[in-house]
Amino acid sequence: MNLTPEFSASLDRAAGLILQSKHVVMMAGAGLSVESGIPPFRGPGGLWTKYGEPTNLSYREFLQDPEGWWEERFRNEDQPGDPTYEMKVAVDQAQPNPGHRVIVEMEQLGFLQCVVTQNVDNLHRVAGSQNMLEIHGNRTFLRCIECGDRQPRDGYHFDSLPPRCTNCSGIIKMDTVMFGEPIPEDVMLACRQQAENCDLMLLVGTSGTVNPAAQLPIIAKELGASLIEINPDETSLTPWCDAILNGPSGEILPLLLKRLQNGGAVEPGN
Ligand code: APR
Repeated sequence: MNLTPEFSASLDRAAGLILQSKHVVMMAGAGLSVESGIPPFRGPGGLWTKYGEPTNLSYREFLQDPEGWWEERFRNEDQPGDPTYEMKVAVDQAQPNPGHRVIVEMEQLGFLQCVVTQNVDNLHRVAGSQNMLEIHGNRTFLRCIECGDRQPRDGYHFDSLPPRCTNCSGIIKMDTVMFGEPIPEDVMLACRQQAENCDLMLLVGTSGTVNPAAQLPIIAKELGASLIEINPDETSLTPWCDAILNGPSGEILPLLLKRLQNGGAVEPGN
């Protein structure tokens, strides 16, 4: 990536803000996984751009007919031309990219205290992230709508539909949060606490259009935190940001880490 003086100055500023921060939280979105071959939802090549965004009735429809929902889910997972199939194929072949790996290094080096991710693709876990909150769930897990118990989808026997919880016999759904479904309370509370306690939030690859996740940077900002955005494009959160790094996160995060490891200093040629 050829660094312009303006971009290098923004990198300086971002590194400086992180180095003077005590509690850094990252809010990640679909853009972080684009370089792993997973399409975003909105904008060019977005899944919803192509197929239309699901309605906010999705969760209510599940509750009205969970058996029918699961039957359709299994059909769609094998149905080329369906968004469920397209996402499944992309996620099944995906591996963490340099962006995911830098996040793990930043955690280990103490530059980052928590990752709030909107991504359900499990790539943070595969990369080795430890302190992470999956605000929209994880597609490799199932969750009981009664007791909230989560279990890996792999190894679960779908003997009958709708699938039942081995803990309380409640109905099981994918752990991923549907449109119209409330974020599980435990996760939402933890995410909110991170936004309230951080003094810097890094916004990586999110359009900032889906609530309540999109409120977290605003909460942080209003409580005095700095915001840094890493995204090739402007977003609804850009006006709130103190430093903006335009470009792909898989290229920018390694550059940012280098600056941090150099104590914010510019390395010759970087
Ligand atoms: N690196 C960084 N950002 C990128 C890259 C990249 N390589 N490629 C695209 N982006 C940016 C886009 O410019 C856009 O701003 O990533 C963002 C992706 O936005 P969305 O597709 O809206 O994804 P996200 O913000 O995560 O959506 C939030 O919406 O549909 C729901 O549950 C779904 O979690 C998702 C939520």
